[in-house]
Amino acid sequence: MMSMIRKFTVIGAGTMGHGIAEVAAISGLEVWLNDVTEDILKNAKEKISWSLSKLEEKGQIKSKDEVLSRIHLTTDQEEALKDTDFMVEAVIEDINIKSKVFSKADALSSDNAILASNTSSIPISEIAKYVKKGERVVGMHFFNPPVIMPLVEIIKGEKTSEETVKEVYNLAKRLGKDPVVVNKDVPGFLVNRILFRVNEVACWLVESGKASIEDVDYTSITDLGFPMGIFLLQDYTGLDVGYLVGKAMEERGFKTYECKMFEEKFKSKELGVKSGKGFYTYP
Ligand code: CAA
Repeated sequence: MMSMIRKFTVIGAGTMGHGIAEVAAISGLEVWLNDVTEDILKNAKEKISWSLSKLEEKGQIKSKDEVLSRIHLTTDQEEALKDTDFMVEAVIEDINIKSKVFSKADALSSDNAILASNTSSIPISEIAKYVKKGERVVGMHFFNPPVIMPLVEIIKGEKTSEETVKEVYNLAKRLGKDPVVVNKDVPGFLVNRILFRVNEVACWLVESGKASIEDVDYTSITDLGFPMGIFLLQDYTGLDVGYLVGKAMEERGFKTYECKMFEEKFKSKELGVKSGKGFYTYP
């Protein structure tokens, strides 16, 4: 198993993937960030660059350019996975797509590399079926924005070895995170099983006419101590992400109140901050 990481691979350069790549590069690792088009990678680099500028201004990193120089962008999955010591997958929450990534990673990486998923909801044991040595597959779930949020859930699947869990725990510490090991490999793990209950009550309050979106958000900050309102957080995370994560959990037996508003927002592509409109509008 990996003991020293020389190469850290991130598959998927969206909201979570680019943030994870940034965190790893800040900690001094050489990072390969892979996605399917040059445009997605360009966009990811711009976002990382913006974030690193903020950190540099605040003296939280020494040099933005130095960190950026450790991030290698590639559309070639083989290049990203060849001789890697550690891969974390952060593609869309769809087992058909994740299974392809893991099958390919199984074929292209060395047997010693750890293969992690940043899935928010899909049990690791289900993902591990696509890899011959399931003991090297593990969940490593970051929260948005990865560069700021300290928590990382480390999820142990049925076959994940203790050694893999230990290595990933140490890695999370090296990235400056506060990891929690989740031994129950259930849909949504720990945080999303709580968060989705909160979201469904918030939605039910609004849909049943008992409260407005603004009132729910105001009270969640002022009284409940949330850093942002419940609906604002969904705009921030992306209403597509929330919808697909909810669906993935529901398909695996986690029953929730069916929130019509969430579905309508997803279908009308009002996805929150990224699309300029969600529950609120953004300039
Ligand atoms: N990189 C660098 N700096 C950043 C940044 C980033 N990615 N994001 C925000 N900042 C900076 C801002 O620019 C701002 O800096 P200035 O004061 O210099 O302008 C500073 O951080 C504070 O940000 P804001 O003023 O915008 O707002 P804030 O004080 O509310 O902090 C927040 C932002 C850290 C996101 C905070 O609101 C928060 O913790 N929100 C909750 C986030 C959360 O719960 N995430 C988990 C979602 S669930 C998930 O991700 C997983 C899943 O499974 C779906």
